[in-house]
Amino acid sequence: MSTRVLTGITTTGTPHLGNWAGAIRPAINASTLPGTDAFYFMADYHALIKCDDPARVARSRLEIAATWLAGGLDPERVTFYRQSDIPEIPELCWILTCVTAKGLMNRAHAYKASVDQNTAKGVDPDDGITMGLFSYPVLMAADILMFNANKVPVGRDQTQHLEMARDIAQRFNHLYGGEYFVLPEVVIEESVATLPGLDGRKMSKSYNNTIPLFEGDAKSLRAAVMRIVTDSRQPGEPKDAEGSHLYTLYRAFATEAESSAFRKELEGGMGWGDAKQALYERLDRDIAPMRERYQALMAHPERIEDILQAGAEKARKLATPFMAQLREAIGLRRHTAIAVANKATAKKSSKAARFVSFRDDDGTFRFRLLGADGQELLLSRSFENPKEAGAVMQRLQAIGDQDILHVDGLAYTAVLDGAAIAQGPAAADETQRDALLAQVRQALAAQG
Ligand code: TRP
Repeated sequence: MSTRVLTGITTTGTPHLGNWAGAIRPAINASTLPGTDAFYFMADYHALIKCDDPARVARSRLEIAATWLAGGLDPERVTFYRQSDIPEIPELCWILTCVTAKGLMNRAHAYKASVDQNTAKGVDPDDGITMGLFSYPVLMAADILMFNANKVPVGRDQTQHLEMARDIAQRFNHLYGGEYFVLPEVVIEESVATLPGLDGRKMSKSYNNTIPLFEGDAKSLRAAVMRIVTDSRQPGEPKDAEGSHLYTLYRAFATEAESSAFRKELEGGMGWGDAKQALYERLDRDIAPMRERYQALMAHPERIEDILQAGAEKARKLATPFMAQLREAIGLRRHTAIAVANKATAKKSSKAARFVSFRDDDGTFRFRLLGADGQELLLSRSFENPKEAGAVMQRLQAIGDQDILHVDGLAYTAVLDGAAIAQGPAAADETQRDALLAQVRQALAAQG
């Protein structure tokens, strides 16, 4: 049994060195582990929550796709797709929205933080908050539950969203009485590098302290590395390797042996300029071949498109039938299915007891009451005209469970207005007669 690992990448911005070491590289490595069935996708519907600039959204999802592919993601091995190419995801999102308590969403950290900010500013608590932001966790639950992921590697800030996805899955399973959804588990990768940015704080676009990954060329990488903040120790003075961001960055790319050699040089008094040059060279050794692939891909967006279309097709092979099952579960069924069900019931009832009229050999009209198994329960007397026979038959049908049966030895008759209008077959013994009587009563009650 393989483990399905799924994660989404919100397509805002251009991946930087920190994204690479902290998320992309470990995810690509994890996708090659045996027993892993990885689903990686671009959360471009999520991007719309944060960004209403179409050009930026379009550019970012292209850059991110190219980054993952250039970084070595094998789209044959992994299911790699765009969220917006899977129409089943927003469809599931709505269905889940209908089983999600609003109160659960009220507790979402991201939403609460926005409300708190508004309150602090003295504006309306919901100022600038869209329904997209508010129900963000439901869309994320749909991403995960659509493919019944077992494990979801995410940053620590996403833990609550995973708990919510589990809650929503459980609620749906309970409401519709089935194990439709697997309960996903969050995976927080503790060992993954958090890279410092140029100023030493966590590398992040919001701090404006990032080092580009593939953007520009080797020169832009070098230029950024040269801007990393260091202390004022001069060449020749021993450096505090552990305390320096340069060393942290170096270690995130180098082997143990390379790192300890670098450390010794720093402690031995290597100048910061030389150290930066060494860091740049070490980074570019890894990045240069990938940058080349990245640029080739970016020059041919149609190749990326083909790969993503193939990925979407792979994903929809699972999503489409699963969605059909879910629609069935919640009652959004085709009417043809209802017609088939009706037919089945109709067939069943044709097997129930029934009246049948017929014309006898002598030209008179009679009817029979037949049991479910076709056994004759009553045979009417003969009538001169069919209308009369029909009228009596209708009265019998309407009579329900009133006792009109008269037992006469091993036989019985049905009596209306004091006249015998039908008789039962001769039974072999009392037990058989009583069984037939019971069937007639049941049949009449069912008609009435
Ligand atoms: N919300 C996630 C983030 O900001 C991105 C994301 C969207 C995601 N859908 C997902 C992550 C499903 C894991 C699974 O990082």
